Amino acid sequence: MSASQLSTKHLLGIKYITKEDIQLIFETADNFKEVINRPIKKVPSLRDVTIANLFFENSTRTRISFELAEKRLSADVVNFSASSSSVKKGETLLDTVNNILSMKVDMVVMRHPAPGAPAFLAQHIDANIINAGDGTHEHPTQALLDAFSMREQLGDLAGKKIAIFGDILHSRVALSNIFCLKKLGAEVTVCGPPTLIPKHIGSLGVNVSYNVKETLQWCDVANILRIQLERQDIKYIPSIREYAQYFGINKSLLDSLNKKIVVMHPGPINRGVEISSDVADSEQSIILQQVENGVAIRMAILFLLAGKR
Ligand code: CP
Repeated sequence: MSASQLSTKHLLGIKYITKEDIQLIFETADNFKEVINRPIKKVPSLRDVTIANLFFENSTRTRISFELAEKRLSADVVNFSASSSSVKKGETLLDTVNNILSMKVDMVVMRHPAPGAPAFLAQHIDANIINAGDGTHEHPTQALLDAFSMREQLGDLAGKKIAIFGDILHSRVALSNIFCLKKLGAEVTVCGPPTLIPKHIGSLGVNVSYNVKETLQWCDVANILRIQLERQDIKYIPSIREYAQYFGINKSLLDSLNKKIVVMHPGPINRGVEISSDVADSEQSIILQQVENGVAIRMAILFLLAGKR
């Protein structure tokens, strides 16, 4: 049975929340998914709550999804983008945020390239903080929308086989997915080139594979991640072409399996690298359902955290 409220005031990472928190978020998101499919998609739940979206790193999906979720809950919303702000003039993170909060902001959604930046803020300010991705650390709302989308396809995730393919080393999505799926009782395998899989990842209770075909044959769901060239200061793979040849997932690979699996990708997609277009756009792919579910999941998180204020 799920709890009636979250165990935490902030959402800093999946590592810091409980299985009951995750179940409560899913049940709340089920209700909000019904709301956003109505002709009138807006509810008054967060009227008089002001939310600042602070993005110190680029984003398409997460940023728009949070803004839509906030507006559908009737919150007042302010958007901040580091690239057009006084951060460019040398203002510190804490000064920037304290200045924004002095304008009576209640909740902060933050994406930042530094791992731990949202946790640092949580120690210094009073507002609820939601981590929208901090460097290579965690991306908790992505993991929650991923697991919610898997649950829609497969039901209870306990005992289900989930494979995460690609650049595990640099991926906050991979780490948050692992924490979330393990808490829900799923079996998890990570698969990619040895250079892109952290040495001690087995200590998180996951299997490691370097064989794409075998792993596809094993899993119920393939969650395919992008190669994060922007986070690689040295070369981890010989070339993108070679990566696509040995680790890219294409239609002939999927057709060679003796079963149908669910294909996922958090985006942005590198078509023709980790995933071919005929897989990304196939009926096995739920990539756009993931994006749709992101709004309901983020409405649930904002609503539940507002209840902790
Ligand atoms: N999945 C994801 O975080 O995408 P964005 O970087 O576009 O927000």
